[in-house]
Amino acid sequence: MRILIKGGRIIDPSNNRDTTGDLWLEKGRVLEITPPGARAPEKRDQVIAASGLVVAPGLVDMHVHLREPGAEYKETIASGTRAAAAGGITSLACMPNTEPPIDNLAMVELILSKAKNQGLVNVFPIACITKGRAGRELTEMGELKAAGVVAVSDDGDPLSSPGLMRSALQYAGMLDLLVINHAEDKSLSGRGVAHAGFMAAKLGLAGVPRSAMEIMIARDIILAEETGSRIHIPHVSTAGAVRMIREAKARGVKVTAETAPHFLALTDDCLSDYDTHVRVNPPVAEAVDQAALITGLSDGTLDVIATDHAPHSSREKEIEFANAAPGICGLETMLSLVLTCLVAPKKLSLPEALRCLTHNPGKIIQSSKGTLSPGAEADVVIFDPAAERIIQASEFQSQSRNTPFDGWKVQGEVMATLVAGRVVYRHASWNN
Ligand code: DOR
Repeated sequence: MRILIKGGRIIDPSNNRDTTGDLWLEKGRVLEITPPGARAPEKRDQVIAASGLVVAPGLVDMHVHLREPGAEYKETIASGTRAAAAGGITSLACMPNTEPPIDNLAMVELILSKAKNQGLVNVFPIACITKGRAGRELTEMGELKAAGVVAVSDDGDPLSSPGLMRSALQYAGMLDLLVINHAEDKSLSGRGVAHAGFMAAKLGLAGVPRSAMEIMIARDIILAEETGSRIHIPHVSTAGAVRMIREAKARGVKVTAETAPHFLALTDDCLSDYDTHVRVNPPVAEAVDQAALITGLSDGTLDVIATDHAPHSSREKEIEFANAAPGICGLETMLSLVLTCLVAPKKLSLPEALRCLTHNPGKIIQSSKGTLSPGAEADVVIFDPAAERIIQASEFQSQSRNTPFDGWKVQGEVMATLVAGRVVYRHASWNN
């Protein structure tokens, strides 16, 4: 059956497209885009009316914690991909800090087979850089890549040895495999639980200085430059980090970088009532950092916005700030936060923002995702960019509810999400 998504504003940054038109899907793939009403549907075609709505490639989130196996009480592949679909995300890359970690072929196969059988969206596994995430011995990256991993990372823990990191970059580089290193020098972050600024000092919280992130990024840029390998910097949160990445890119270093929606929506002012939902690693920094992140997104220094979706149970959050597990659920709020914090105040245009959510991450993980090119799998999000809504954590599809955005009034409502031409999410008020 053919599907016609009719009369929407079709934004496809991979093809520099921003036009009103008709999107045709057939056999799970994009068929073509035609001018509005140029061709009448046939009787057998399914027609989805999208006028007044944005039609875009399904979002690609390259930084997600699905928690399965090992912490299914926080999230599972089934619940996490359901949450992704509700957030307009059709492809995600999942981090290997599971229990056991994704550091061998059997684990990759387990994730892929569970994702195939129980997942609603495309799942791309990321494997560990080192066995057991222990920072001692490199994983078998060749066979991991052959099995389908899109990157290696010891997420949550940095590779602290520069020598081992250099070897990892050389090995991964030979395979053209992306390395993502958690940017944190633990000797600097120590027991810190919040950004080391005025707020942390006022509240008596142990601080994490910016240098904890920035020293690790400086080191990794040096090593990526020397080895010629690709490095991706996750969850960038400070102005200094943006500056270093900008300079490295200008020199031709193969570095890409992401920031997270919570850094665009919050500053450390929000710590004032010790809300443990704001506890996240790296910590939310200051307004000057937030401004630099936004400039970094608009000048292309930062390529990607990714959630770092880190579900935790209420048991791990409803305790004192310093002992609360770090992390924020992001899958169901990313699009609205980007629309509200970047697009509505005209800091980024909608196509620019969507480029960071679709084409750029799709390209960095070397997938064919994040595009509406003819022949691409029909992964599509349809959303109302102007609709106002109140975020309600209690309605999350995710198994966890840890968000500092509960009750926030935001813009943007996902109306439908399609994966390979199949509707995997539809909004309750969507009557197509
Ligand atoms: O806040 C975080 N939570 N940062 C990380 O790097 C890991 C993540 C998690 O796995 O909970």
